[in-house]
Amino acid sequence: MDIKKILFVGGKGGVGKSTTAAAIALKLAKNNKRTLIISTDPAHNIGDIFHQQVGHTQREVYSNLFALEIDPQQEADRYIQTVKDNIRETVKPHMLEEVNRQIDLAKCSPGADEAALFDKLVSIIIEKKDKFDHLIIDTAPTGHTLRLLSLPELMTVWMNGMVSRRKKINRNYSQLLNDGEEIEDPIYKILKMRKNRFKEVRDMLLNSKVTGYLFVLNAERLPIIETKKAVMLLQDNDFQVETIVVNKVLPDDMSDTFFQQRKQQERVYLDQIKEQFKSQKVMLIPLFNEDIHSFRMLSIFAEQI
Ligand SMILES: Nc1ncnc2c1ncn2[C@@H]1O[C@H](COP(=O)(O)OP(=O)(O)O)[C@@H](O)[C@H]1O
Ligand SMILES: [Mg+2]
Repeated sequence: MDIKKILFVGGKGGVGKSTTAAAIALKLAKNNKRTLIISTDPAHNIGDIFHQQVGHTQREVYSNLFALEIDPQQEADRYIQTVKDNIRETVKPHMLEEVNRQIDLAKCSPGADEAALFDKLVSIIIEKKDKFDHLIIDTAPTGHTLRLLSLPELMTVWMNGMVSRRKKINRNYSQLLNDGEEIEDPIYKILKMRKNRFKEVRDMLLNSKVTGYLFVLNAERLPIIETKKAVMLLQDNDFQVETIVVNKVLPDDMSDTFFQQRKQQERVYLDQIKEQFKSQKVMLIPLFNEDIHSFRMLSIFAEQI
């Protein structure tokens, strides 16, 4: 399998996203590729897989393999603080309390965590892209990931509005204070910088030579429906999902009637998957007789990819 510079691994909880992401990352590291695996799932288990504490700063978990986990809650707090700091300079002191209250309310609104998470991911991608051969991103379950990925689009629209508003304010200020002479506006500068950073990353995420999207699912009804929806939605936003990994596929030769029935049902679902994901490469990974909890098992798992 040809792994892009950046790879997003998505799918429902429990299907084997983290295992797949970790196995791919380990395989790359063993091939002397400097690899960073980043988890954005609040239910982190990258650390558990490697039996090591992994936090918000990168840590080498194997030769050439680094890991880090982004905590959405922590990032949201940090993000809100930055917004407050930026705004403090612009509002009148007696309004500050009310404005801060509004910002705290905004923090509880849906999407705030994703915005913070995306902001952090953008920073990480920009900071790490030249330091690593591969960035493997183990994402949260489907809905979450989708919002995250459609954000650059939204963000661009939002930022454009902010930047042009700020420019206008700046012009008014200039006319008022400086006889029309341009003055430096720090907020405008910050916004413009952020806009450029978002654009840079967005272009990378939309470039199929740079970024790949892989979904993991199991041969069951709901994961198929959910994955199909996710793939379509991403496609509508111009992100091409190239690979589908069907994980935990039962062995062919089972004597037990119960498992034979399960296998029969699975065959139906596997046919459905092949039918529904015609534009994707579909890969099957067998169910192993134990959890994938060691480097040895991860390597065996990776051989299937
Ligand atoms: N092919 C497989 N065979 C056996 N166990 C597996 C397989 N793939 C994953 N597992 C196990 O299933 C559990 C869930 O996998 P995980 O990668 O943590 O899922 P996710 O990240 O999608 O929530 C883990 O305990 C993992 O070891
Ligand atoms: Mg996981």
